[in-house]
Amino acid sequence: MSLRITASRLIANSRVITAKRALSLASRATLRPTAARQFVKPMVATRGLKQINFGGTTETVYERADWPREKLLEFFKNDTMALIGYGSQGYGQGLNMRDNGLNVVLGVRKNGASWKAAIEDGWVPGENLFEVNEAISKGTYIMNLLSDAAQSETWESIKPLLTKGKTLYFSHGFSPVFKDLTHVEPPKDIDVILVAPKGSGRTVRSLFKEGRGINSSYAVWNDVTGNAHEKAQALAVAVGSGYVYQTTFEKEVNSDIYGERGCLMGGIHGMFLAQYEVLRENGHSPSEAFNETVEEATQSLYPLIGKYGMDYMYDACSTTARRGALDWYPIFKDALKPVFQDLYESTKNGSETKRSLEFNSQPDYREKLEEELKIIRGMEIWRVGKEVRKLRPENQ
Ligand SMILES: NC(=O)c1ccc[n+]([C@@H]2O[C@H](COP(=O)([O-])OP(=O)(O)OC[C@H]3O[C@@H](n4cnc5c(N)ncnc54)[C@H](OP(=O)(O)O)[C@@H]3O)[C@@H](O)[C@H]2O)c1
Repeated sequence: MSLRITASRLIANSRVITAKRALSLASRATLRPTAARQFVKPMVATRGLKQINFGGTTETVYERADWPREKLLEFFKNDTMALIGYGSQGYGQGLNMRDNGLNVVLGVRKNGASWKAAIEDGWVPGENLFEVNEAISKGTYIMNLLSDAAQSETWESIKPLLTKGKTLYFSHGFSPVFKDLTHVEPPKDIDVILVAPKGSGRTVRSLFKEGRGINSSYAVWNDVTGNAHEKAQALAVAVGSGYVYQTTFEKEVNSDIYGERGCLMGGIHGMFLAQYEVLRENGHSPSEAFNETVEEATQSLYPLIGKYGMDYMYDACSTTARRGALDWYPIFKDALKPVFQDLYESTKNGSETKRSLEFNSQPDYREKLEEELKIIRGMEIWRVGKEVRKLRPENQ
C-alpha cells in the first residue's frame, strides 16, 4: 500500500518531526547506564484530575499531578509496601516505587530466578529482600504480583498473614473475581484494591525513566477504611502511572483476558497467518507475503494508527487503498464479531480462567508450553520475519 502526500500529511509530518525529537530525547534517557542500585530520578511530567469526554461519555481520569512526590511521600510515610513476586510487573512497579522514595520490601522464593534478578537490581537480602511470607509480615500494603497461577497456589499460606489494618493489592482481577476456581477470597475486613498497568512491566519501568507514564486502570474490591479509592489512585502514581481510569475488578479481568486473546495477541496472530497463507497459496514469495502482511503493518501503518488514529490513515493513504479498506472493513467486522462474542462469553463465564489455571498449574507446564512455542517459531512466516528484520538498515 502506498501513502500519498496530502495537506494533512504535511501537517502530520511536522507533528512527526516534533515526535521524533521527543523520541530522541526519550531514548537518550533510556540509554543512561543502569548500574545496580542506581537511583533513577524520573523527569517530572505532571497533569491534573480531569473530566474527559471520551467520544460522548464523560469519565474522570486521575493524573500524576494529583499526586506530586511530596504528597505521595506524606500519604505513605507510615507504610511499608511488601511487593511479592518479581516478574515483569514486580520489577517495573517495585523499582518505580523505590525510586519514588517509598519504603518497599520485596518477597520472593529464595534462590529462584526472581531472587537472583532482584539482587542484580540492587535489592539486598535481609534489608529489603525477603522470602514471601516474611515480606508480608513486614508490609502494611501487600502487593500480590506473583503469577496468577501462583496467587492461587500460595493463597492458603498467605491469607492468615493478611491481618486487619493491611491493604491487599492486585494488578489483575483474575484471582478474586474467579474465586470459585482460584480459591482466592480476600478477607472482608481489609481494603482490597487493584491497579492494572496497560502494558508490560518493562514498559512500566522504561516509561517512568523517560518521565512518561503507563496508562492504568484502578478498582476497589473492599473499602473498609473509606480511603480505598484514594489509596489506589496514589499507588497507581507511585508505581509509575501517568493517568488512571476507574473500573471494577470484574471489568478489568474480562477486558484484559478478552483483549489479549483478541486484537492484542491471538486475533492479530490469526489474521497475520490467514493473510500470509493465502498469499503463499497464490504463488507470492515469502518475502513479498511477509512484507505485505507484517512488515508494512508494524513498521509503517500501525505506528501511524498509534500516533494519529485509524481515521487519519484513511486520510493519508492512496485513493485505491482507501476505497478497498472502506469496502472490506465491514466484511471483516461482520465475520469476526461472532468470534469476539464467543470469546467474551468464554472469558466472562470463567472458561478462559479455568483453562489458564489448569494448564499453568501442571508441573510440566513449561515443557508443554515450549512445544507449542516451538511450533510457532518454526512457522515459515516467523522464520521469514527473522530474515526480513535483518535487512532493515538499522540492523546491518
Ligand atoms: N506481565 C504483564 O504484562 C502484566 C500486565 C498487567 C498486569 N499483570 C498482572 O501482574 C501480576 C504479575 O504478573 P507478572 O507477569 O509480573 O508475573 P509472572 O511472570 O506471571 O510471575 C512471576 C513471579 O511469580 C513467582 N512465582 C511463580 N510461581 C510461584 C510459586 N509457586 N511460589 C512463589 N512464587 C512463585 C515467580 O518467582 P520465581 O522467579 O521464583 O519463579 C515470579 O516472581 C499478575 O496478576 C498479572 O496478571 C501482568
